[in-house]
Amino acid sequence: MQNYQPAILDPVPPLARYVFFSVASTHVAQLQQALGRLSTLADGQQLVVGLGTPLLDMLGGRVVGMHDFVPLQGLGVQVPSTPCALCCWLRGGDAGALLHLTRRLQQALAPALQLDQVVEAFRYNSGRDLTGYEDGTENPQGDAASAAALVQGAPAGRTGSSFMVVQQWLHHLDAFDAMGSAAQDNMIGRRRSDNAELDDAPPSAHVKRTAQESFAPEAFVLRRSMPWAQGQRCGLMFVAFGCSFDAFEAQMRRMVGLDDQILDGLFAISAPLTGMHFWCPPMNQGRLDWRALGF
Ligand code: HEM
Repeated sequence: MQNYQPAILDPVPPLARYVFFSVASTHVAQLQQALGRLSTLADGQQLVVGLGTPLLDMLGGRVVGMHDFVPLQGLGVQVPSTPCALCCWLRGGDAGALLHLTRRLQQALAPALQLDQVVEAFRYNSGRDLTGYEDGTENPQGDAASAAALVQGAPAGRTGSSFMVVQQWLHHLDAFDAMGSAAQDNMIGRRRSDNAELDDAPPSAHVKRTAQESFAPEAFVLRRSMPWAQGQRCGLMFVAFGCSFDAFEAQMRRMVGLDDQILDGLFAISAPLTGMHFWCPPMNQGRLDWRALGF
């Protein structure tokens, strides 16, 4: 039986909800009971669960490698840190079913945790960002995906867990449209029409900034991002799973120009609104495994 939440390695679903909760009780026992009820809903397929430091701290749990998202101030850009207690990534193909699952979650977690925010997301054109560029091409595959995304070789209760970054980016599609297609391709470093990588892309191109083999040590993550939209606002829910936060943090620092004073071209058309770190517990016999937290 798998010891990780299986959806971490699965392709992104047609529809999703990211549901964020905050701590509403100071009673550890109440929080533990809420997580126990959450276990009965969390199959790791239609629901991926990640715990943030506000909740881990209340539970008195120290998870090796877990820390808050580090805010960054880059070349004229801000990357905020917005710690959150609990993230539930609800996955499916039916918006009504996701709404009802959200309600079941809310009921299971009350009164210890309260729902703060829901972001609705979707798959666009079989896996593109709303700019039309294919997203996820250079994700590691097979065993390399597991190695990048899952903690391995740690004691029971931690092996199979994963460190998840969630960052909501707000796109300015008018600015993107005004760029013209050559500038757009140079911003990403790939041609939108056929997804070919551009050898002569500028160093600010997103895929040059983040080229995973170019870091020392190599910085591989498993990205599972999805477009989001609410009224007139839209963007990308950037989600990356790692065996630690190291690879993501190295990429993010380079994107904002802290390595070499070159800013990632993406900032011309998008900005991060949030920055959250979560620890996704492993699974044991089909249930979330809380042994790392001592219960
Ligand atoms: C507005 C936000 C973002 C958009 C629209 C975006 C879009 C893309 C696109 C279109 C690609 C090329 C295809 C692919 O390999 O997936 C890509 C690659 C990549 N992105 Fe992003 N991305 C965003 C944010 C980020 C962030 C915040 C990180 C990490 C800090 C990141 C890390 C990567 C990595 C590692 C690659 C593959 C690079 C390689 O090894 O070739 N992206 N992204």
